[in-house]
Amino acid sequence: MSKFYAQDLQNKPVECLGMTFKNPIGLAAGLDKNGECIDAFAAMGFGFIEVGTVTPKPQAGNDKPRLFRLAEHRAIINRMGFNNKGVDYLIEQVKSANYKGILGINIGKNKTTPDESALDDYLICLDKVYAVASYITVNISSPNTPGLRNLQYGEALDSLLTGLKKRQLSLEIEHKKYVPILIKIAPDLSEDEVKSIAASLIHSKMDGVIATNTTLDREPVKGHEHAQEAGGLSGEVLTEKSLLLTKILAKALDGKMPIIGVGGISSPQDVKQRIEAGASLVQVYSSFIYQGPPLIKELVNA
Ligand SMILES: Cc1cc2nc3c(=O)[nH]c(=O)nc-3n(C[C@H](O)[C@H](O)[C@H](O)COP(=O)(O)O)c2cc1C
Repeated sequence: MSKFYAQDLQNKPVECLGMTFKNPIGLAAGLDKNGECIDAFAAMGFGFIEVGTVTPKPQAGNDKPRLFRLAEHRAIINRMGFNNKGVDYLIEQVKSANYKGILGINIGKNKTTPDESALDDYLICLDKVYAVASYITVNISSPNTPGLRNLQYGEALDSLLTGLKKRQLSLEIEHKKYVPILIKIAPDLSEDEVKSIAASLIHSKMDGVIATNTTLDREPVKGHEHAQEAGGLSGEVLTEKSLLLTKILAKALDGKMPIIGVGGISSPQDVKQRIEAGASLVQVYSSFIYQGPPLIKELVNA
């Protein structure tokens, strides 16, 4: 089966987060939420794969319809709501995969967990995925879990980061390996908010940032029949916003930790711009939906 989509790509190694990525093009979170297709995505040539978002307990996500293609814009609006089979199931999938490359595991909170207990959910997932992840992404930027994005600000952010760091260091001793933690942020942040997040990330010694998740902004798709659907907008209409945020973030971080750029990356030009803006690696989701495996080949070879 895999012969239909497997491709042998050039090696374009990148050193980042203390690891060697075979190329800088990764699969963004949300496509393989349960880690069920890791070997298939690996065969397509991704330099790294991020699975999840996974939550402590399985949950159904929002009612359907919850995903809309805005094909004219090469965009997607989704309000999936972290539909997933739970962290224990994901770990079984990861263990049964043959993939030996870099695997990120993206963790979140259950919808029914109160906002003030969010850290507990992240710690449950962190404890469980630590042994099998190359890096762990803490998703505080999905627009589809009410209250989640509030974790990006002020004291809520600082106490989350402190709690995560403390647990990461004890897990490091327990497992005798250091697994980097990255924080995934939204594109809908003001310049001041980005600077304040960067300061918190540096202060709490986080390992990296993934920028960005989907946007709540509908301006770029105004007038489209699906424009008013609730959820996060992604794809080519997100490129400018995500790029601008990356530039602001890179300046604020001043090289203290790497950025993985994601959001509207659909061409070699986009990859180049994002790397020039300060990203060390990139990820794709929507453009992969529209262009399929040839996109990876085009981006890696460029
Ligand atoms: C249908 C769909 C589901 C997604 N699910 C997740 C998710 O579970 N966790 C997450 O961190 N990001 C999720 N994302 C966001 C993507 O990982 C990515 O950050 C965003 O779509 C911007 O990149 P793109 O323009 O290349 O799609 C999802 C995106 C889409 C379109």
